[in-house]
Amino acid sequence: MVRFFAYSCGSGIAIQNLAAGSSTLKNKITPIDRGREMREDDFIVSKTDLKGRLTYGNPIFWEFSQFLESDMLGKQHNIVRHPDMPRSVFHFMWTTLKAGNEFFGCIKNMAKDGSYYWTMANVTPSYDETDKLLGYFSVRRKPSQSATKDFSVLYKAMLEEEKRVGPKAAISAGTAVLENHIKGLNSNYEKFIFSYISTD
Ligand SMILES: Cc1cc2nc3c(=O)[nH]c(=O)nc-3n(C[C@H](O)[C@H](O)[C@H](O)COP(=O)(O)O)c2cc1C
Repeated sequence: MVRFFAYSCGSGIAIQNLAAGSSTLKNKITPIDRGREMREDDFIVSKTDLKGRLTYGNPIFWEFSQFLESDMLGKQHNIVRHPDMPRSVFHFMWTTLKAGNEFFGCIKNMAKDGSYYWTMANVTPSYDETDKLLGYFSVRRKPSQSATKDFSVLYKAMLEEEKRVGPKAAISAGTAVLENHIKGLNSNYEKFIFSYISTD
């Protein structure tokens, strides 16, 4: 059941109050300014249950995250969240998933030692044969250089706006920065993100 981007296409990005993904394993890792690039042939794969708790990671997931599989299965996927990522991106991700659609996005992650790695992620709801939602599935590829460059700038602007307005208004303010950026390109989220996936 793939309803490909139907939700995120169109005039804007819908806002809903979703708590998904917010019960957390808050890590105390300090980010460091050292990055690692994915290899051309890498696929970083992970699966979660309905609440975003890890149920599977492939060996490359554990390699890049630097966490031990045995320690982390059952823990929230936000273990790899990088503080440079705007909250509104994850809100959009969860809103898209909860609507039954798949999400594509450029995501900066943080490894256990505080270093970062950029990914181009696809996250999909996962169903059984009776169409019952089982959890979520993510596959990530190496992003293009233009993607990491442009998303660094865009996410910085979104994060600054989120911080400026404070926690209550952060999601709508960060989302507005994203929407305005896309509007300025005469685009929509689907075309915008795919322009980074299909070319470099
Ligand atoms: C299948 C799946 C994969 C995810 N992958 C990532 C990821 O690579 N990095 C990340 O920061 N969050 C990822 N998330 C989102 C997290 O669950 C979480 O919403 C996000 O890290 C923000 O967490 P926080 O609101 O607790 O700060 C993923 C969620 C799902 C369902």
